[in-house]
Amino acid sequence: MAHQWRGVIREYFDRLPFNEGDPIITLGEGGTPLILAPALAKLLDVGQVHLKYEGMNPTGSFKDRGMTTAVSKAALHGAKAVIAASTGNTSAAAAAYAVAAGMQSVVLVPAGKISWGKLSQAVAHKAQILQVKGNFDDCLRLARELSQGYPVFLVNSVNPDRLQGQKTAAFEVFDALGYAPDLHAMPLGNAGNISAYHLGYKEEREIGRISQMPKLWGIQAAGAAPFITGSPVLKPETIATAIRIGNPASWDLAQAAKTETDGAFGSVTDKEILWMHRFLSQETGVFVEPSSATGAAGLYKAFLQGTLPKVENIVITVTGHGLKDPDWALKTEAGKKIKPKKVAALATSVAEILGLEKNK
Ligand code: F0G
Repeated sequence: MAHQWRGVIREYFDRLPFNEGDPIITLGEGGTPLILAPALAKLLDVGQVHLKYEGMNPTGSFKDRGMTTAVSKAALHGAKAVIAASTGNTSAAAAAYAVAAGMQSVVLVPAGKISWGKLSQAVAHKAQILQVKGNFDDCLRLARELSQGYPVFLVNSVNPDRLQGQKTAAFEVFDALGYAPDLHAMPLGNAGNISAYHLGYKEEREIGRISQMPKLWGIQAAGAAPFITGSPVLKPETIATAIRIGNPASWDLAQAAKTETDGAFGSVTDKEILWMHRFLSQETGVFVEPSSATGAAGLYKAFLQGTLPKVENIVITVTGHGLKDPDWALKTEAGKKIKPKKVAALATSVAEILGLEKNK
């Protein structure tokens, strides 16, 4: 019988801070595909590129890895409710895992700035949703304050249990390839994910599965790029709403991830993000939300500028599914709405529109 993936806590039990008998709240997260992308290897002129497709997680983003650990710990501590600030994906994951745990979830999102796909998930999983008149950074400040003064358990990535779960993505990369890539790129927002990969690869080195860590590259949206400007951005702006963050919580951890791996931070414009979003859909077959195209967009920009290191193997994490924020796929590059043609239900009519000639 084929092996049924059991979620990251059970799959990596001996590498996570859990004990026998602890509650495990899982929706089967992790075990996501690592997809060979020859079109990207060609574009970047490197040997191999793999995409770690985190959109294949149960709620459609990498957040599920950290939510299984955070909500399981919340259950261990007897929590009745969890709270999260979110640009959308964390709220979807928190809401779903809270349901699985029999808890209430409260999510704070920036008003009008989360995609409707993600909002629909939080609604579907009966989260108490509050749209805060402010940005993500305001939401996180509020969530922290509330968790300190009220009986709600914080499940943002400032909670170290989250990073424990998220580090398993690095383990999976090694499990799939049998080696560590030379360079691993990803979008960079609140900086939990790059910190988690750093932790994961460090542990792989400690147990001797790898000898050298991949260079970790974190790419931001140009309008929300505090790691590039060097200080918090007060009014972050980008169409990539998932990473519309001006004051990343895991600032020091992300700096360490970059420095200790000889990695880099980069930034890309919304136009560059959307170009890569389209390239991934049309040339690799992998549909992601715009923010998830940021890692690949940053590498391509570096390639064009001649600053991409000469390496053989690259992994790029694409963090969230395209169906999370599908509107962008339904626009042309010039921003015009795409509407498929209507046709009569006749083979000859369809063939005519397609310009097909009948077989001889
Ligand atoms: N990609 C996606 C799709 C995200 O949703 C996020 C963060 C990131 C990348 C950035 O990861 O914050 O660990 O550096 N989303 C959070 C949320 C903030 O609320 O869903 P990070």
